[in-house]
Amino acid sequence: MHNNSPIGIFDSGIGGTSIWSAIHNLLPEEKTIYLADSKNAPYGQKSKEDIIKLCYKNTDLLLRMGCKLIVVACNTATTNAIQELRSKYTIPFIGIEPAIKPAATNSRTQTIGILATQGTLNSELFHKTAEKFNETKIIEQVGHGIVQLIENGQIDSPEMTQLLQSYLMPMIEANIDYLVLGCSHYPYLIPQIKKIIPENIQIIDSGEAVAKQTRNILNEKVGFSIAKKTEPIFYTNTNPKVLSEILENKYVVIEKDF
Ligand code: DGL
Repeated sequence: MHNNSPIGIFDSGIGGTSIWSAIHNLLPEEKTIYLADSKNAPYGQKSKEDIIKLCYKNTDLLLRMGCKLIVVACNTATTNAIQELRSKYTIPFIGIEPAIKPAATNSRTQTIGILATQGTLNSELFHKTAEKFNETKIIEQVGHGIVQLIENGQIDSPEMTQLLQSYLMPMIEANIDYLVLGCSHYPYLIPQIKKIIPENIQIIDSGEAVAKQTRNILNEKVGFSIAKKTEPIFYTNTNPKVLSEILENKYVVIEKDF
């Protein structure tokens, strides 16, 4: 079974490109269309109802562009809206959730940290997953302000270092041995995080797992592309500069109102 239609990927902004990268590396022959809804970022402080509406808007656009599968490259959108998306549309959706399971299962100190948005940490889906690991102490921390700094192109700034220090120090003191990055923007902070945390703390994000799940769903339900040359397309509804920069200016970024 073959299907040359594109895979649609969306996020509240530029962070989901960390997931896009994992998908593009694993499935380089697949055409991808990425939507950065930066105009509405951050999603993490919005109500569930508003997040669902934004997810419908993004999905409708990707469907008009002919996508065969949609990856919700945003923990906040997944944990608040994936059920609604799956019941409204027939197209398959792949979501991204904080990787608590591998962290909790492998933790020796029985203490793990999770850094995520308020929307993710408050969601029912997150609570249900966390409850399954009630023998592990989970230190939850909202990453207030981090997404805004990343969207402003201030990944490597003194403000960011200060925020990260204030969020991570209490986790280090609590003796975590795993740090779960529960927001698709955060993998871009790994170099700075490594400067703050001791070497024995493992950092986990969900990019590779999402890419593998995408490959499974293409294999089982949707079909792989057999197109030869595929250039990814990126759309943003704000100034394209920051998105282009995070992609190292390697790809076309189109500014579009959506
Ligand atoms: N990148 C997003 C996530 O994975 C959302 C950040 C936000 O818009 O608050 O949660």
